[in-house]
Amino acid sequence: MRRRPGSWDPLAWNGPWKGLLLAASVLGSCFQPAPGQTQTPVTIVLTPPSPVVGGNVSLAPQNPPQDFVLCSWYRSATAAETSRILTCFPHTPLVQQNGPAHTGLETAGPGCALHITGLTLNDTGNYTVQIQSPTSPGLGTVVLRVYGNEKSGSVSVGSGNVPGRESSEEPRQPCDADTVLWLRDGASLASSDRLVLSSDNRTLKVLNVTRGDAGAYQCEVGNPVSSIRSDNTLSVPCTEMLPRPTVTPNQTLVLENGTFTLRCNSSPSADTVLWLRDGASLVPSDRLVLSPDNRTLTVLGVTRDDAGAYQCEVRNPVSTKRSEPGTVTLAYGPESVRIDPPGPITLTLGSPLTLTCVADSIPAPSYRWGLNGTDTNQTGSSLTFNPMTLDHQGTYECRAHNPITNRTVSVCVTAGSINAPSSLMVSRIPLTPAIAETPTHPALGVGVTGSTGGPQAPPAPKGAG
Ligand SMILES: *[C@@H]1O[C@H](CO)[C@@H](O)[C@H](O)[C@H]1NC(C)=O
Ligand SMILES: *[C@@H]1O[C@H](CO)[C@@H](O)[C@H](O)[C@H]1NC(C)=O
Ligand SMILES: *[C@@H]1O[C@H](CO)[C@@H](O)[C@H](O)[C@H]1NC(C)=O
Ligand SMILES: *[C@@H]1O[C@H](CO)[C@@H](O)[C@H](O)[C@H]1NC(C)=O
Ligand SMILES: *[C@@H]1O[C@H](CO)[C@@H](O)[C@H](O)[C@H]1NC(C)=O
Ligand SMILES: *[C@@H]1O[C@H](CO)[C@@H](O)[C@H](O)[C@H]1NC(C)=O
Ligand SMILES: *[C@@H]1O[C@H](CO)[C@@H](O)[C@H](O)[C@H]1NC(C)=O
Ligand SMILES: *[C@@H]1O[C@H](CO)[C@@H](O)[C@H](O)[C@H]1NC(C)=O
Ligand SMILES: *[C@@H]1O[C@H](CO)[C@@H](O)[C@H](O)[C@H]1NC(C)=O
Ligand SMILES: *[C@@H]1O[C@H](CO)[C@@H](O)[C@H](O)[C@H]1NC(C)=O
Ligand SMILES: *[C@@H]1O[C@H](CO)[C@@H](O)[C@H](O)[C@H]1NC(C)=O
Repeated sequence: MRRRPGSWDPLAWNGPWKGLLLAASVLGSCFQPAPGQTQTPVTIVLTPPSPVVGGNVSLAPQNPPQDFVLCSWYRSATAAETSRILTCFPHTPLVQQNGPAHTGLETAGPGCALHITGLTLNDTGNYTVQIQSPTSPGLGTVVLRVYGNEKSGSVSVGSGNVPGRESSEEPRQPCDADTVLWLRDGASLASSDRLVLSSDNRTLKVLNVTRGDAGAYQCEVGNPVSSIRSDNTLSVPCTEMLPRPTVTPNQTLVLENGTFTLRCNSSPSADTVLWLRDGASLVPSDRLVLSPDNRTLTVLGVTRDDAGAYQCEVRNPVSTKRSEPGTVTLAYGPESVRIDPPGPITLTLGSPLTLTCVADSIPAPSYRWGLNGTDTNQTGSSLTFNPMTLDHQGTYECRAHNPITNRTVSVCVTAGSINAPSSLMVSRIPLTPAIAETPTHPALGVGVTGSTGGPQAPPAPKGAG
């Protein structure tokens, strides 16, 4: 079928050799090894050792017996007639009889050799020679490997699961390769504890990745006649497991309408930084401004909703880490300031009384108490006294001051005394509470007075209890 014009034509069956061939054939059969008779193993030498597609090869038995009568070549691992390529007889010129597996490209040569020309990859396979000789019959098989030219193919490094703690890269299967070598940044890699090659070298696994493993990976496949390096490289950046970031607000107590910033302190290898408040992700807006690297969040025109637990989340291809919350509290108040019990209060001589100032404020306010407009130097949230004289009646004032909002609110309660055996004066003032914009020093008996403003100017001291 593949017979080429001009190739060596075996002798015609009907030539003058016919009788000889028949005789040799019969003779040959006489030299079939008898049961138990050992056939000498025949070593077959390939020339060239690594034949390539399109080239020629010769398969020659090493040291063939001088007295061989015929030898047959088979395209298989056994001497099966269906796979017989040819049989030759050691005459001058050589006599070649083709078998069923002859393709037209095989010829016999001196010393029982087989020549094959115009090799294709299909010629790869087992070849067996059987030598018949009166003294030393032999049988040998060789594997012929026909190499493709790798330069006509292409090799590429697969993406593998890179980058990660463990990565592997798989080169695309080249049709025909004996060796696969790996290179990083052009230098060949030797396998080690951490660089694990699969048995065919086609998969490289990098364990316990370190910074030194970053680089451009290539593979090179080769056979004895050629080699080719992957035309792509796989860049493996060094990627670390991110440490947990931290969030630091520049102030933990913030003012309404004010501004504060939050900083996400994280490794530079985090390539995404996201923000959350109370576990919900934040979307940047006019009031929530991110720096270009997302690491600083600035909150403008603070409202009560901006208070909360802020977290940042950092990500890179191998890890995602979220910080502990950094809590920002809105400072406000004092609001709803009142004195308990509310006025007017009836004092009982000899019976101790405690006034408590209650305020809604963050942070907790400081308190000062005054009587009849005079500071008493008492600073707790409550004031306790034992009314023994008429001097204890009058207008009690609580000033609640928030140091962050710089806001002071003052309220008053009046106290008079009636329940004394000596019939002390009773409260003689209107009972309606009143709120004033500015601090007042009301007359005895004004119910409640509120005021806001700056720090108190301590009035002249006077005892209060
Ligand atoms: C292969 O053998 C043929 C015939 O013997 C010859 O013409 C050709 O040049 C040879 N090719 C090579 C590559 O050696
Ligand atoms: C190789 O063998 C396959 C199947 O046997 C056949 O399809 C193909 O055409 C052959 N190739 C050559 C170059 O002979
Ligand atoms: C050669 O023959 C052996 C045994 O039959 C077989 O295992 C092997 O695959 C064959 N090699 C080739 C290249 O066909
Ligand atoms: C596998 O790689 C090692 C180290 O680079 C090399 O020595 C060896 O020859 C390679 N083996 C194959 C089959 O490619
Ligand atoms: C990889 O790291 C683990 C844990 O750190 C260690 O147990 C293991 O021996 C390391 N393997 C190699 C090949 O260095
Ligand atoms: C915040 O701004 C709003 C509108 O400008 C204003 O009504 C409000 O009083 C301000 N609050 C404070 C605490 O300054
Ligand atoms: C926090 O940052 C904001 C905005 O930059 C600034 O206005 C404010 O004064 C800073 N607070 C402190 C305590 O530094
Ligand atoms: C910055 O934050 C925005 C909004 O959360 C997000 O869409 C973006 O991916 C982030 N960019 C970086 C580089 O972290
Ligand atoms: C406070 O005022 C009331 C009524 O004006 C008076 O009775 C009382 O003595 C005053 N107390 C002090 C300590 O000034
Ligand atoms: C607090 O307010 C008072 C009066 O309103 C002002 O004089 C003072 O400077 C303010 N202090 C601060 C720290 O803002
Ligand atoms: C309040 O304190 C100031 C300074 O500590 C002191 O001079 C004054 O006498 C005190 N007033 C009273 C009523 O105790």
